[in-house]
Amino acid sequence: MLNHPQLPSDDELRAHFPGLSPDIAALDGAAGTQVPLAVIDAIDAALRTAMANVGGAFAASRVSTEVVADARSAIADLVGGRPEGVVLGPNMTTLTFHFADALARTWGPEDEIVVTSLDHDANIRPWLLAAERIGATVRMAEFDVETGELSVGAVVRVLSDRTRLVALTAASNAIGTRPDVRAISDAAHAFGALTYVDGVHATAHVPTDVSALGADFYACSSYKFCGPHTGAVIADPGLLEPLRPAKLIPAPDHGPGRFERGTPPFELLAGVRAAVDWLAGLTDTSGDRRARILASFTALEARLHTLLDRLVTGLAAIDGVALLGRANRRTSTVSFTVAGYTPADLTADLADHGVAVWGGDNYAYELMQRFRLAETGGAIRASIVLYNTAEEVDRLIDAVAHLAAQARGN
Ligand SMILES: Cc1ncc(COP(=O)(O)O)c(C=O)c1O
Repeated sequence: MLNHPQLPSDDELRAHFPGLSPDIAALDGAAGTQVPLAVIDAIDAALRTAMANVGGAFAASRVSTEVVADARSAIADLVGGRPEGVVLGPNMTTLTFHFADALARTWGPEDEIVVTSLDHDANIRPWLLAAERIGATVRMAEFDVETGELSVGAVVRVLSDRTRLVALTAASNAIGTRPDVRAISDAAHAFGALTYVDGVHATAHVPTDVSALGADFYACSSYKFCGPHTGAVIADPGLLEPLRPAKLIPAPDHGPGRFERGTPPFELLAGVRAAVDWLAGLTDTSGDRRARILASFTALEARLHTLLDRLVTGLAAIDGVALLGRANRRTSTVSFTVAGYTPADLTADLADHGVAVWGGDNYAYELMQRFRLAETGGAIRASIVLYNTAEEVDRLIDAVAHLAAQARGN
């Protein structure tokens, strides 16, 4: 019999998170996860250690230089990239505006850029604004509103030999859909275009391998996978080198540092490494950190799917609940509406029932337009992450059932 890596029990896992409480079902993980003690301790320890700015000859500077290098290695192990291709930054949105600016310097008015309506606005607007400055054309690949799927064909339809970049998500932060990034990347590459993949949502849910995805650039944010509030873009170092990002003259001329602005948050970067180490230690698998990360996420993906099925089955059985999308490959993130409620009212009532979920567009701006929900305040989003339990999922289902019945006047 195959030996599958085992995750700790719910109680063991949750004991790592001082921010969790039995009174609140924290089903808001897609907006940011709670942080385990190992990360808090690493940040605390970093702030208690003599650290100086990077690149100096003295010990305190060597410490911070090492912290930055360790954060690059950790992110590289998390997504299967190379440390020299890991650009660190404050968050995905800021980094994407920066990359859009740098990449747009290589475009001309005859060029075309492809974005998708499935994406978070952080992987749409920066490209639209950059294209607008150059006079390049933007083409939008549309997901299917009925199924929530973004087909390969929908992207291929808007590709041409003028396409320079395809920006797409590895997973929708609103409805969880995971498009076939590999097939879309292959199609983009066949037209000579690059891909910029938004992995902010996906990275917390499934094993990630940037090469297998064919992602030329892959963006993620550590606060979505139990780390502190920082982001990263991972690319092949050979792709970074020819780009000309806006930078200060004395700042590095080579390597990922060329894309990083100002002094980095060393204590948070110590936390990034701790988060990746902690994730790698979730199962008792042996091997290097990359192998252990893959084992953890393989086990997590299975666990999250069981909870997703429970949530979807429970919500679908409630009169007045409409689920958005039903993609085949998806993360454990679900958006829905409840007849008789605005999302704002429902999330407030759910909070009274001890359930924390988001309502609104969750910055999936184009997606909510396509679902025709923009005017009515978007949808309710429940997202299940590694520390959520079946009991929390049931609490949400029961509370929604109760409130939906109230709205129906039962
Ligand atoms: C899929 C997705 N992309 C991008 C972002 C923006 O990330 P950041 O907050 O790091 O800018 C988010 C944040 O919620 C997200 O869920």
